[in-house]
Amino acid sequence: MIRDKIVTAELEQIFRQALQDIRDASTLHDLQQVKARYLGKKSLIMALLRQLGSVPPEERPAFGKAVNEAKQKVADLIEEHQLLLQEKLYKSELAASQIDITMPGKRSGKGSLHPITLAWQEIEDIFLSMGFDIAEGPDIEDEFHNFDALNTPADHPARNLSDTFYIDNDVLLRTQTSTVQIRVMEKFKPPIRIISPGSCYRNENDASHSPMFHQVEALVVDVGVTFLQLRDVLQEFVRRMFGETIDTRFRPHYFPFTEPSAELDIRCVKCLGTGCNLCKGSGWLEMGGAGMVDPNVFQMIGIDPEKFTGYAFGLGIDRIAMVKYNIPDMRLLFENDVRFLKQFR
Ligand code: DAH
Repeated sequence: MIRDKIVTAELEQIFRQALQDIRDASTLHDLQQVKARYLGKKSLIMALLRQLGSVPPEERPAFGKAVNEAKQKVADLIEEHQLLLQEKLYKSELAASQIDITMPGKRSGKGSLHPITLAWQEIEDIFLSMGFDIAEGPDIEDEFHNFDALNTPADHPARNLSDTFYIDNDVLLRTQTSTVQIRVMEKFKPPIRIISPGSCYRNENDASHSPMFHQVEALVVDVGVTFLQLRDVLQEFVRRMFGETIDTRFRPHYFPFTEPSAELDIRCVKCLGTGCNLCKGSGWLEMGGAGMVDPNVFQMIGIDPEKFTGYAFGLGIDRIAMVKYNIPDMRLLFENDVRFLKQFR
C-alpha cells in the first residue's frame, strides 16, 4: 500500500490534501487547477523531489520511490476523476439539449444522376462489353477535323447543314463527334474499334434541338469490315438499350464521310409500331446516322482504302435518354429543374 511507503510527514500531508482536492473538484476546470497544483512543474510534489539532494544518501532510494509513487497515484486519481466529470458533463449537456436521440434523424437530400449521365453510362457499358474502347477529342476544334478531313471541303453544301459556332477563323465548337474518328486515325493504326461520347454544338434551339447536345460516335476499321457487321452491332445495341422487341431499320441517307450512308430508326418504344404521338404516327424513331467510311477519308488520313474498310455511326445520347425515360421536351434535360431531376433517383 502506498500509505505505508510514505516516508515523510510532509509527503503524507500533501497526499491527503491532494485526495481531498481531487474529490472536491466539481468541474473539469477545477480539476485542471488541482492537476497543476500537485503535478505541475511548480507543484508541491515536484518541489519535494527537488529536495532529494538534501536527504541522507541511505534514505534517498526510499524517499524518491515514495514521492514518485505518490505522484503516480495522484495522477491516476486525477484521471479517474476526470472521466467521471466528463461523463457527468456529457449527461447534463444531453439532458439540457432536449434532443430525443430515439427520434429518426433528418433525411439528407440525396442527389441523383442526370438522365443524360445515366444513358451515357449505359451506352458505354454496352459498347465496352462488345469490345469497343472509349476515345476522346476536344470540344474546341479546327475546320480540318470537323469538316475537311471528314470529306467536307469549304465549298461542300453539307457545311451549311449545321449552323456552326465559330470562335475564330479556323476555330470552332465541334458540330459532331465524328471529329474523334479523325483524331483516332491520326494516332492509331487499324485495327480500330472505338466509341466516343461527347458534347457537340450547333446554333439551334427548340423542343428537339439544344445548342449543346451529346453524341456517341463509333468507328471500326480493319481488314474485311462489312455493312452487315455495322447492322448487327447497332441491332444488338438497340436491343440491350431499349429491349429485346425493339427492331431497327436503315433508311438510305447522305453523309459526306460515309458511303453508303444510312439513318438508323428504331421501332417506336411507346406504340411498338402501330403509330402514336411519340413517333408522329410513323411507328419508327430516328436515332442517328451510320455508314461505311468513305475511301476519301481513309486517303486523307493515310490509311490504305484498298486494304482496309470501316464503318462508323453517330447516335444522339440526349435522344436516347428522351426515348428511354419518356422525356417529351429536350429543354427539360438542360433546365436542371430539381423536380424533374428528382425523378431519376
Ligand atoms: N456526324 C453525323 C451528324 O452529326 C452523324 C453520323 C452519321 C456519324 C454517320 C457517323 C456516321 O459516324 O457514319 O449528323
